[in-house]
Amino acid sequence: MAVPQDVAHLMRPGSLQMGSLPPLALYVHLPWCIRKCPYCDFNSHAMAPGELPEQRYLDALRADLEAALPLVWGRTVHSIFIGGGTPSLFSPQGIDQLLADIRARVRLAADCEITLEANPGTFERDRFRAFRSAGVTRLSVGVQSFNDRHLQSLGRVHDSAQALAAVEEAARSFDTFNLDLMYALPGQTMAELEADVSQALALQSPHISIYHLTIEPNTYFAKFPPALPDDDSAYDMLDRITAMTQSAGLQRYEVSAYARPGHRCWHNLNYWQFGDYLGIGAGAHSKLSFAHRIVRQVRHREPRLYMERAAAMDCIASSTEVPRADLPFEFMLNALRLKEGFPLAHFLERTGLPLSAIAAALDKAETAGLVTRDLASVVPTERGFDFLNDLQSMFLPASAT
Ligand SMILES: C[S@@+](CC[C@H](N)C(=O)[O-])C[C@H]1O[C@@H](n2cnc3c(N)ncnc32)[C@H](O)[C@@H]1O
Ligand code: SF4
Repeated sequence: MAVPQDVAHLMRPGSLQMGSLPPLALYVHLPWCIRKCPYCDFNSHAMAPGELPEQRYLDALRADLEAALPLVWGRTVHSIFIGGGTPSLFSPQGIDQLLADIRARVRLAADCEITLEANPGTFERDRFRAFRSAGVTRLSVGVQSFNDRHLQSLGRVHDSAQALAAVEEAARSFDTFNLDLMYALPGQTMAELEADVSQALALQSPHISIYHLTIEPNTYFAKFPPALPDDDSAYDMLDRITAMTQSAGLQRYEVSAYARPGHRCWHNLNYWQFGDYLGIGAGAHSKLSFAHRIVRQVRHREPRLYMERAAAMDCIASSTEVPRADLPFEFMLNALRLKEGFPLAHFLERTGLPLSAIAAALDKAETAGLVTRDLASVVPTERGFDFLNDLQSMFLPASAT
């Protein structure tokens, strides 16, 4: 159901009863990259660094945030994630201005986590340090692989030497950082995967995100598919990743995320725990709770249109209320990705629904050996984690009753 923007409309009575509002995070999307990678379906557009309309975009983000403020009035922001695209294409002065603009408009928690995604192709030592001085607390480095042949087949703008230098600088300048890898790459062998993971571990990365390369519709790889390892090899690779990271002291706490104690990503955890987030920037998504409803918004996706419309305080392309019947599935789509599952209290607090809305589906999932539970929490079993799609779909509107 489409909803108008005015706050009074969002606050009116409705079918949900939210006792309190969940924690709030802020996502900022910067939509440009040096070159478009052939596997990527993110809202990112190729742009020569000298042509970046940095100031215009920062002005648009400020106007976007201003217009959104009434929807998050009085709430504290616990994390900021500057994602893309390639945010590290922006100058440290630009990131400094962005964070100053945000601080002047919303209250940040004292320990607010501020992550910036960085591509090793934009690596310069002083630049990475200057991001730190601007207030960024955590760098997320898009490495993908340390193997030059694979980096080339992935169309990356950097080689392994740049990737190594970028991660080493992240380790020097930041108390915590993440490194993104992908596996099941075109022509990748188990030995090559092991070499990538060993290298990431040798760099003492406190957090690693490892994604199975997926062929997304409307990408170059979808049109010209490369030869990929088969499903069995990909499963074996995942088992190897989990074993190697575990023996190095990193815990797999979510489907694709591995962290040392104290280094989990607060921002991503908030998504998985069905917290709230305001997304500003081209194509950014928001999920915001009100006393009686949950609303999803999407900004205009095309950067030029977004900048024009943001300047006119009108950059929302769609705003919809999540139907009550969809909430159990939406909650489970996120919460069951977490190895430790979720407290039942979170379901009540964050969907505004009673437990009876999931009681039948939970019984079925427990009988099938896909979850264990007690009075306080629900945890996916090993089997539930292996068959996550089947487990999540038990909470679809038609199946959950
Ligand atoms: C939004 S991207 C941003 C990172 C940065 N732009 C970069 O690529 O260096 C976040 C991560 O998603 C992962 N990713 C992107 N496309 C993917 C795909 N088709 N399959 C699996 N993982 C993907 C990559 O590991 C990437 O680092
Ligand atoms: S650098 Fe990152 S966001 Fe940009 S095209 Fe490549 S994968 Fe996508």
